Amino acid sequence: MSSSRILLIIGGGIAAYKSLELIRELGRRGIASRVILTKAGAEFVTPLSVSALSGEKAFTELFDLTDETEMGHIELSRSADLVVVCPATADLMAKAAAGLANDLASTTLLATDKPVLMVPAMNVRMWEHAATKRNVARLRADGVRVVEPDVGPMACGEFGPGRLPDVSAIVREIEAALAPPSKRLAGVHALVTAGPTREPLDPVRYISNHSSGKQGYGIAAALAAEGARVTLVSGPVALKPPEGVTFVSVETARDMLKACEDALPADVFVSVAAVADWRPVKASPKKLKLKGQGEAPTIQLTENPDILRTLSAKRKGRPRLVIGFAAETHDVEALAVEKRARKGCDWIVANDVSGDVMGGSENEIFLITPDGTEHWPRLAKDDVSRRLAARVADALTGPNPGLRLAAE
Ligand code: C5P
Repeated sequence: MSSSRILLIIGGGIAAYKSLELIRELGRRGIASRVILTKAGAEFVTPLSVSALSGEKAFTELFDLTDETEMGHIELSRSADLVVVCPATADLMAKAAAGLANDLASTTLLATDKPVLMVPAMNVRMWEHAATKRNVARLRADGVRVVEPDVGPMACGEFGPGRLPDVSAIVREIEAALAPPSKRLAGVHALVTAGPTREPLDPVRYISNHSSGKQGYGIAAALAAEGARVTLVSGPVALKPPEGVTFVSVETARDMLKACEDALPADVFVSVAAVADWRPVKASPKKLKLKGQGEAPTIQLTENPDILRTLSAKRKGRPRLVIGFAAETHDVEALAVEKRARKGCDWIVANDVSGDVMGGSENEIFLITPDGTEHWPRLAKDDVSRRLAARVADALTGPNPGLRLAAE
């Protein structure tokens, strides 16, 4: 990697001293650092030591007139390929999550048009506080990459998550964030389903579920970023389709199946949608009316088509790689292994939805392939998407694809 530049915001915290080592290590790898020191950050490291290592003056105050004549704060916020906040304090993350802009660091974070990576470090109670959790989830939902802190003994004597990761791990995160997508999926057609389906009872009522569509939309975006031509077939969600994908909006499971079949041939099918398992046998053309006397209508249900199984079972035109999802509340891995066999797909991405995964911004994954099970750490849904897109690219284009198709 060469000639990249980061804008490094050093927050206040005992871990701030490690940012000096970070600047040095990045420099060795050809990544230049321009530095903003927050007021609290300057209590832990001096502007002088920062500029000695970065080879540039460190920026400290929003209303420093000399800085403004040399470089305005808006220009500063856009003067690098990536903005890195390290250490990211609870306070800095709260400000960024709320969109405050009352000092140079927060103004920069609001004004930048570049990707942002935050490396938190704080006391374990602060990291685990509901307010910090909320802020981290919001930042991730806004597209900020927030690295998970390390677990271990803390400067304050407590033990738990909150420690700044090793400098080498931070460098890896920065290099990954700076790396342009490889476009290894150029020429590949990827079909992705996302969101819930809606099964009408009458013109105003339906059966559905809580799927937000975030994971499926993230995967569609990540596959597109790797160069794939993506068709995203989605049930009703409150998200904007990612740029550059062909978007097909559907309501029911039967519509979704038809849209998928119409979109074939595809090289890879990623079945993320939370398809309703059942639908009412008959949707009433008129709104069902209250009959009174405590009498409620009996709704007869029938099974919906299984889109994943249908596409997996195709003799002609089966996508080369078929990936299903499994959301379980217990025995996640065992049930996912069984589901892979039952659905006839190649991989299953399984997650535990007993917590706040549905609708949330994070996910913890088991990837079940013919070669075994991988357990991924808890990641932002966007990071899950990028990882999965990279694995798809390995499987479809790698020299040793390691992909044994279920159809073989
Ligand atoms: O059986 P279960 O609903 O847990 O399976 C989940 C997987 O199957 C997901 O990949 C989902 O998209 C897919 N599925 C489907 N059609 C259905 C039900 C599930 O494609 N009717």
